[in-house]
Amino acid sequence: MINIPKGTKDVLPAEVYLWHHVEDTARKTAEAFSFKEIRTPVFEHTELFARGVGDTTDIVNKEMYTFLDKGNRSITLRPEGTAGVARAFLGNGLAGGAMPFKAYYLISAFRYERPQAGRLREFHQFGAELYGAAGATADAEIIALADSFLKNLGLKNVSLQINSIGCKTCRAEYHKALKAYFAPHLKEMCADCNARFEKNPMRMIDCKEEGCKKITANAPRMLDYLCDDCKAHFEEVKNLLNAANIKYEINPSIVRGLDYYSRTVFEFTSEAAGAQGTVLGGGRYDGLLEQMGEKAVPAVGFAAGLERLLMVIAAENAPVPEEKGVSCYLAGMDGKSRGQAFVLASELRKAGISAEVDLMERSLKAQFKYADKIGARFVAVIGESELNEGAAEVKDMKNSSSERVKFSELATYLKQKEN
Ligand code: HAM
Repeated sequence: MINIPKGTKDVLPAEVYLWHHVEDTARKTAEAFSFKEIRTPVFEHTELFARGVGDTTDIVNKEMYTFLDKGNRSITLRPEGTAGVARAFLGNGLAGGAMPFKAYYLISAFRYERPQAGRLREFHQFGAELYGAAGATADAEIIALADSFLKNLGLKNVSLQINSIGCKTCRAEYHKALKAYFAPHLKEMCADCNARFEKNPMRMIDCKEEGCKKITANAPRMLDYLCDDCKAHFEEVKNLLNAANIKYEINPSIVRGLDYYSRTVFEFTSEAAGAQGTVLGGGRYDGLLEQMGEKAVPAVGFAAGLERLLMVIAAENAPVPEEKGVSCYLAGMDGKSRGQAFVLASELRKAGISAEVDLMERSLKAQFKYADKIGARFVAVIGESELNEGAAEVKDMKNSSSERVKFSELATYLKQKEN
C-alpha cells in the first residue's frame, strides 16, 4: 500500500455532492455579480510568486512547492490564485479590454505547511478578482460578493472583520512608528519577527507566537496613521457596507499574510474552521499589477478555503441539498429480460433519465437490496411475463406502490412521476 501524501485528502464519491454544492453556489453567486470564470495553470514560473506574493511572506519563504523542470526552469505549484490571474490579465492584453475586469476561479492550491484541522498542503479556493476600479464601491462590491456567497451557503455564524492598511505613503510613516516601538523588544521576539522588522514590520502585528503577541498588543495601529485619502476611502467602504446591511467589525490587527495589499483588507472567520478560523480573506492590492506590468491597474479580490467552508457547513448543520440517487434501476430476471433492461436503460438515458442495470448477475432479491442501497427512486422489474406484455412492473421506492408501464411509455411515466 502506498500512503496518501501528508496534508492531502481524497474526496470520495459519497461526499463529492457536498463539494458540488459549494462549487455550484460559488459559480451562481459569482455569475449573479457578473463575474466570469478564469482558469490559469496549476504551475507558474517561481518568480511570479516571489515577486507577486512577496519575498517577506511565509508563503514564499517557507511554503512553496518549487522544483526545477527538465529544462532547468524553476517552477512552483501555485500557492494561491491572485498572482496567476494578474499574470493572465497582463499577458493576454486584457488591460486594453472592457473595464472593470471581473473574474472568479475554483482552484487547488499548494502550500508546504504543517497540516492540522483546516490546514492542508493541497487545498481548494473559490476566489474573485476585480481590476480597474479604484473607488470604494469596488471594495464594497467584492465584500458583498463574499458575503452573499457565505449567506447563499446558509452560514450564520461567520463574522466579517475589516481593516485598512493604508497606502505606500502613509505606511512609510507607520513603519517608522512600528520600528521605534519594536526596537527595544526585539530580543524577546521570535526569529521571524526579527527578520520582518527589517523587511516589513507591519507583518509583526499578526505573529502567532505567544511571546510576540504580548508585545504587539500595544503596538501602534495603522488606522491612526492613515493619510486623508486612505481615511476617506475606508470611511466610504464602511458607509457602503452599512447601506447594504452587511455587518462587520473593525479589527486593527488584520494585516494579511501576503505582501500585495493596500487600503482595505478583510477576513471572514468562524470558530468552526479549525485552528486558523479564517474561511475567507482578501483586500485591495493596487500595487501588484503595476509591479508586474507597466501601468497601474487598481485591484481588489478575495479567496475562500473550500475545506474550511465544508467544516463550517458541517458544524453549523447548514442545509445541503440531498444527494440524488439513480432515477431508475432496471432489474432483469433472466438472460432475455436482462437484455431488454439493457436496451431500456439506454433509451431512458437518451431521454435524460439516469438509469442503471445489474452488472453483477445478482438474484432479483439482491438487485432490490442494491437498488435500495444506492437510493434508486424507481425499480423497473422485467421478467418473462413483462417481456410478453411489453411492459415493466415499476415500483416507486418512496411509497412501495407499483404499476405496469409499457416499455414505450416508461420514460414519459418516470418523468411525470419524478416531479
Ligand atoms: P489567503 O488568506 O492566503 O489569501 O487564503 C485565502 C483562504 O484560503 C484562507 O482564508 C483559507 O480559508 C484558505 N487557505 C489558505 N491556506 C490554506 C491551507 N493551507 N489549508 C486550507 N485552507 C487554506 C489568498 O490566498 C489571497 N490570494 C486572497 C486574495 C484574492 N486576495 C486578493 N484576491
